[in-house]
Amino acid sequence: MQLYFNPASPYVRKVRVTAHELGLSGAIELTSLSLTPVSPHDGVRSNNPLGKIPTLITDDGTALYDSPVICEYLDARAGGNRIFPAVGAARWTALRRQALADGIMDAAVLTRYEETVRPKELRWQEWVDGQFLKIRTALDALEHEDLGDVFDIGTISIACALGYLDLRFAREAWRTSRPRLAAWADAISKRPSLAATAPPA
Ligand code: BEZ
Repeated sequence: MQLYFNPASPYVRKVRVTAHELGLSGAIELTSLSLTPVSPHDGVRSNNPLGKIPTLITDDGTALYDSPVICEYLDARAGGNRIFPAVGAARWTALRRQALADGIMDAAVLTRYEETVRPKELRWQEWVDGQFLKIRTALDALEHEDLGDVFDIGTISIACALGYLDLRFAREAWRTSRPRLAAWADAISKRPSLAATAPPA
């Protein structure tokens, strides 16, 4: 398998953590690249019309995207229902948490583009504030969830979203008012799959 990848992308990290947990890292060849909405990558676009990473090319040449689909594919390839609970409340909780964490990533990555890619004279502070309202509200909700010892696609996604905030938005100091979530993040970050995929400082 081939994975189009950037070490800073939290969505790519989800895929890499999932692969690591499932013992599939060695089966994935990483193709490193940089892209933004205004500097697309032809190799990615030729496989994914949206031009986004992660995009995975399977061994039979099929292109899969985006991170929820790739993670579920890897889970199935490893036998199934190891990272995605099969049925019941555990499944819906994991999928909801994945959606919440992906939403944090969406708001944070869009803000990153706004602050680093968009020309200064076109930047819109109210829009950034709106993205941060989503992030802060989501973090407050997570502070009140019992994440416990569960390790599945939901908690993988949350760990990767928090890692991205630490990487790009340290100024937000999200830990200050969320001690439970901070303690959970610090503990889970020691897991080998998360330690091995930590984004470069
Ligand atoms: C970043 O550098 O923050 C970034 C890179 C790729 C995808 C998303 C974010």
